[in-house]
Amino acid sequence: MPAVTETWLVLGGGSTIGRAFAQRAAAAGAAVLLAGRDVAELERSAADLRLRHGVPATSVLFDALELEAHRGFARACATLAQGNGHRQLNLLLAFGIMPSQAECEADPLLARRMVETNVTGAASVLTALAPVLRGQGGGVVVALGSVAGERGRPRNHLYGATKAALAVFLQGYAARHARHGVRVLNLLAGPVDTALTWPLPRLPFIASPAAFAAQAWCQARRRSGQVHLPRIWAPVMAAIRAVPDRVFNRLDL
Ligand SMILES: NC(=O)c1ccc[n+]([C@@H]2O[C@H](COP(=O)([O-])OP(=O)(O)OC[C@H]3O[C@@H](n4cnc5c(N)ncnc54)[C@H](OP(=O)(O)O)[C@@H]3O)[C@@H](O)[C@H]2O)c1
Repeated sequence: MPAVTETWLVLGGGSTIGRAFAQRAAAAGAAVLLAGRDVAELERSAADLRLRHGVPATSVLFDALELEAHRGFARACATLAQGNGHRQLNLLLAFGIMPSQAECEADPLLARRMVETNVTGAASVLTALAPVLRGQGGGVVVALGSVAGERGRPRNHLYGATKAALAVFLQGYAARHARHGVRVLNLLAGPVDTALTWPLPRLPFIASPAAFAAQAWCQARRRSGQVHLPRIWAPVMAAIRAVPDRVFNRLDL
């Protein structure tokens, strides 16, 4: 068994991508903290990680919408990570919701909930965790962004707007904390086969959660800034961004 060198805090530890990433991290010997709303379910996943990989793994209650609890949550995570032997705490931001554009247009409260979860909640919890990262001399923050944030499409520009806002927040967060050893990577993800995409029609280049997590883990070891995942989305999005508005606006994307 490889030595445990770090603890990965998975914010949205019950998400399909978060769970696949946690498996990947634990297989590499990292300790794991699974944070989310369904602690009983997270504890079952943590037990599986402990059994399968022999690493410290535990669960912690986290709700992106409970902003006033985020500072206490950050302190609790620091304590739990120290319990793993003062290993560096790294973060995977893996929670989010994606109601359809039609659902959001019919229900402004649902649209607000998406913004509050994907943007406000993300910004709040990362801000609360920044002193923990700086206090330990740095750390890695990996976020699940999306290609949807690169160009507003008729079919999901509200969701896309949340990912664009997240991207700008992450740029500034990286610049603000870089001198304290914090490295930030925003994964501009194409579609991944999870509960989030099951309601959608067949999507191009859709990745399996395990394959996506393996690529995310590799990128997390060395990259910062933004990277498309799977890599095919870099040229695809370059082409999509280059389409003139008068053509783009006629496409039903
Ligand atoms: N799947 C894709 O194609 C794709 C592409 C690009 C980016 N992403 C992003 O990847 C991330 C993970 O998505 P996924 O595809 O793995 O979807 P998923 O399995 O549906 O996971 C979404 C997770 O978000 C959590 N969540 C929702 N509201 C929350 C809140 N208020 N507080 C805490 N957790 C909350 C859910 O927790 P509960 O279990 O408690 O409901 C769930 O675990 C999301 O940010 C998504 O936008 C996904």
